[in-house]
Amino acid sequence: MRSRPSISRSETRGNFVAARQSWQRLEKLLALLPAATAQLPLPAPTRALTVEKLSVTAPESEKLLVADVSFFLKAGSAVGIIGASGSGKSSLVRALVGAWRPSRGVVRLDGASLEQWPPEALGDHIGYLPQDVELFEGAIAENIARFAPDPAMDQVLAAANAAGIHQLVVSLPLGYNTHIGEQGALLSAGQKQRVALARALYGNPFLIVLDEPNSNLDAEGEEALTRAILGVRARGGIVVIVAHRSSALAAVDFVMSMMQGRQHAFGPKEEVLSLLARREPAPAASLKVVPQTATST
Ligand SMILES: Nc1ncnc2c1ncn2[C@@H]1O[C@H](COP(=O)(O)OP(=O)(O)OP(=O)(O)O)[C@@H](O)[C@H]1O
Ligand SMILES: [Mg+2]
Repeated sequence: MRSRPSISRSETRGNFVAARQSWQRLEKLLALLPAATAQLPLPAPTRALTVEKLSVTAPESEKLLVADVSFFLKAGSAVGIIGASGSGKSSLVRALVGAWRPSRGVVRLDGASLEQWPPEALGDHIGYLPQDVELFEGAIAENIARFAPDPAMDQVLAAANAAGIHQLVVSLPLGYNTHIGEQGALLSAGQKQRVALARALYGNPFLIVLDEPNSNLDAEGEEALTRAILGVRARGGIVVIVAHRSSALAAVDFVMSMMQGRQHAFGPKEEVLSLLARREPAPAASLKVVPQTATST
């Protein structure tokens, strides 16, 4: 039978001190852990939008609405997305803005997938004008500023100017303080669309996504839209615009055509438009496809 090791009083005290010190070190390490695992803030995107093999289903649905879309745009570019009704244009852009999660594939800003940004940060970097414009009861200024608690008036004015609606707004009885009613009922369809354009531009987001922003615009509104897109490109942003009318393509340098949920063609505007004009049977492979890696910026 082994005898128990004898432990002196000083040894016991030494072990106790060592244990306490270890515990204190552990506590310090544990205190560091939450900081280490929290989402790191990413720098604001400035370089590129990359879409990789993107497939989209509607939330709570299995039906594939968009399949296998890939393209790359660098800062200062704009793409016009064209295609028949029901071809998946709106479904695609819902995934581009993070409203719908991709069922496969990924959308990246400067190489980081949308999921890496907290939703509020993503809201700062993406401006979205949905096909069914939704405005809310409140002042025009509040609607442009997305009801931010403390909106910067100079940014509201900058967005209104970029959307070309400043004169329109000041001609209303209370200017920027004019309340527009539930769903913006006191505005015409074209005016709503232009206020919603200003809202998408508010804060100079890197990526501006416009889903048929011109369906109710008159000629002056279309010109303002063209200027707004050119303005975003000039400041180094990216624009994705879904368009039915070719007038909306005036300010874009790339075009994508969609067919039955798939990318039928993507490339420089003139190439894609002349290809479509020749009505060749969908030779997507013959199109000059722009490099699709973020490294080509
Ligand atoms: N929320 C939804 N749930 C299920 N299916 C949907 C949903 N939204 C759209 N779809 C279906 O997805 C397909 C593509 O619709 P989408 O709205 O993306 O087309 P689109 O190209 O934008 O058409 P349009 O030019 O008419 O706006 C359609 O068949 C449509 O019925
Ligand atoms: Mg649509």
